[in-house]
Amino acid sequence: MQSLSPLQLFRLTYQPKLPFLLNSLHSLAPIEIGHKREIEDLTLKNLFPETFEQPFLSFKKGEESDSFPALKIGVVLSGGQAPGGHNVISGLFDALKKLNPNSQLIGFCNGPNGILKNQIMEITSSLLAHYRNQGGFDLIGSGRTKIETLDQFQTASKTIKDLDLDGLVIIGGDDSNTNAAFLAEYFKQNNIKTTVVGVPKTIDGDLKNEWIETSFGFDTASKIYSEIIGNILKDSLSAKKYYYFIKLMGRSASHLTLECALQTHVNLALISEEVEEKKQSLSNLISQIVEMIVQRAMQGKQYGAILIPEGIIEFIPEFKEMIQELNALLAPHHPYFQQFNRLKDKVSKVKDVSQQLSLDASQCFNSLPLDIQMQLLLDRDPHGNVQVSKIEIERLFIHLVEQELNIRKEKGQYDGKFAAQSLFCGYEGRSGLPTNFDCQYCYSLGHVAALLLSAKASGYMSCVNHLTQPVEEWSLSGIPIFSLLHLEVREGKQKAVIRKALVDLKGKPFAVFASQRENWKMADDYCCPGPIQFMGPSEIADTPPLTLIYETWKT
Ligand code: FBP
Repeated sequence: MQSLSPLQLFRLTYQPKLPFLLNSLHSLAPIEIGHKREIEDLTLKNLFPETFEQPFLSFKKGEESDSFPALKIGVVLSGGQAPGGHNVISGLFDALKKLNPNSQLIGFCNGPNGILKNQIMEITSSLLAHYRNQGGFDLIGSGRTKIETLDQFQTASKTIKDLDLDGLVIIGGDDSNTNAAFLAEYFKQNNIKTTVVGVPKTIDGDLKNEWIETSFGFDTASKIYSEIIGNILKDSLSAKKYYYFIKLMGRSASHLTLECALQTHVNLALISEEVEEKKQSLSNLISQIVEMIVQRAMQGKQYGAILIPEGIIEFIPEFKEMIQELNALLAPHHPYFQQFNRLKDKVSKVKDVSQQLSLDASQCFNSLPLDIQMQLLLDRDPHGNVQVSKIEIERLFIHLVEQELNIRKEKGQYDGKFAAQSLFCGYEGRSGLPTNFDCQYCYSLGHVAALLLSAKASGYMSCVNHLTQPVEEWSLSGIPIFSLLHLEVREGKQKAVIRKALVDLKGKPFAVFASQRENWKMADDYCCPGPIQFMGPSEIADTPPLTLIYETWKT
């Protein structure tokens, strides 16, 4: 057992608040709330013959019942860590036990691979007592294996049948929930009794839509990063000698960057979705940053900070094409892949790959420093994409900004001093002690998952709404995962997937940011959110992300 700090110990005793409705667990019944999804595409409907007609569900108070059967449920954590995962499991466990004390919860170890390998552990109340309100996923571990092939479905079914599971809860992001929908469909088609329920997780914040207000973990991660950025802004204002180039996690989406910019009023934050919409080239972006540095230097300010979303490289038009070509070449089924893997040293790899690219793509690739070229050639993620968190884009920006400033200096257009520091706000945001918001949200999500399991609502995602209201007023629902699916080309094939929600450039959070950013460039209107608070007035300890608050603003 690990040692726990005084704060960790204190957090073990925290009792997350629940929505009023969940105090009457025994009398909550699912109610169909009308709208089924209109299917515009037969391909989708044909993939989900058993589940495509499922209605949206809401939970309302009805007659109290004491006839909840004992359930044996499996739970798995899938993908990157997100603060609050342990609270989903606690909420699920507590609700299952409240509904029937003989229910059992089994954890699959180290992600979906634990299902394929039948690696399990029983989750007991004494074990869980060490993980309540704690960060990380270390109770049962996580992993990125995807269960998507027929073979894997069959292996998973064997485990599930051997364990005689009534239900399986998959806690994951867009892809894991897509897999949950396929698994639910497969189980129904094969008369397997197991109900599959998904829970929306990811710090990236890109699993959201008109029903899911936010994924859990986003709030904590954005607050951890905002604390760091706020501190850095203070440091830069005090020492007045550095520009900080800060890369932020988030994979493709810039939600974390946008939220941190809104929280801290950093001098400049690039938003990948805007870069793509405005077709901004890398040199456009460098000029934007250089312009700001030159103007600030004229006011005697040789410091500041710039936020760069980690996925930006894939949104810069010339890079997008180059990366697509690289992804295709480095896909395991591509004939070139073997040839590439036989090459031994960095330089020959870079040279060889560059010769396989189109003229434009190779020009773009060749313009990059060797380190970045090599990072672009690293193993792809399970979806065949570049692992953006491994590319030191912040260093590339520093290098290019410095080059451009030197040119301007030679031309007599700039006479300031430029010293830069780079930083990556990444993994440290994924496993911190969850905020009160995430603790409560996750605990509720776990309860709703238990209700969906009891209602045998397979292929549903647990959903809690009205998150900017006091917890007591949150509402509960079940979203048919099928309703979130659309067809997308992935690795050259059309696949049914949940659409990743990127930053909406017409949305209110972006509008607030856009209305302030010119001012933030010059004014040093820095804001230090400070460390996450677990106690104290609600406006300090319980607030949801600003993005969520702005999204609910009336026009
Ligand atoms: P999920 O999408 O699985 O929640 O993971 C998110 C994330 O933290 C991204 O922000 C990041 O790009 C990626 O995982 C890093 O992946 P890895 O842990 O495999 O290095």
